[in-house]
Amino acid sequence: MKDVIAIYPGSFDPLTNGHLDLIERGSKIFDQLIVAILRNPEKEPLFSVEERFEMLQSMISHQSNVRVDSFDGLMVEYAVRVGATAVLRGIRAISDYEYELQMALMNRKLEPRLEAVFMMPAEAYSYLSSRLVREIATLGGSVKDLVPPMVEQKLREKLPRADQRRGHGTLKQGK
Ligand code: PNS
Repeated sequence: MKDVIAIYPGSFDPLTNGHLDLIERGSKIFDQLIVAILRNPEKEPLFSVEERFEMLQSMISHQSNVRVDSFDGLMVEYAVRVGATAVLRGIRAISDYEYELQMALMNRKLEPRLEAVFMMPAEAYSYLSSRLVREIATLGGSVKDLVPPMVEQKLREKLPRADQRRGHGTLKQGK
């Protein structure tokens, strides 16, 4: 029987525990899973594609059927190029559904051979997003338990002002 290759595309800016949860789940149902970082020249990312690649790579190295790659242009064209027949995306809440449905149906119009597969991350990550992680880290809040320790460290290095703010006590710690 043919191996089923899936891609898990996204920005991963930065990688969160929710992404890792989904990668873990995806790696169990697909023969091969390619985590594909979008190279988006229109967006000013916090981490370069190379930095995101490195972080992802070190977090998935123990999963033999998962690899990291990057792509630009149309996702469906990339998927066909790497021989993928499925696209994995996470749905956290109903609010994700509308956007994901629109994207999945448009992708189906562009490439009918590609199936979208949606998985739910663990409940604990249902409110987690890279955007919120970026915002919290920029404002000096703790992102512990939201991202792997390696990403937490990289955020600290990237956003030294966040550390300074914490140091000066402008942010109140939770009770
Ligand atoms: O992590 P994100 O930002 O939600 O991921 C969005 C992503 C990368 C899956 C989406 O923007 C994408 O596939 N972009 C590639 C360009 C493309 O194919 N656009 C047509 C979408 S219907």
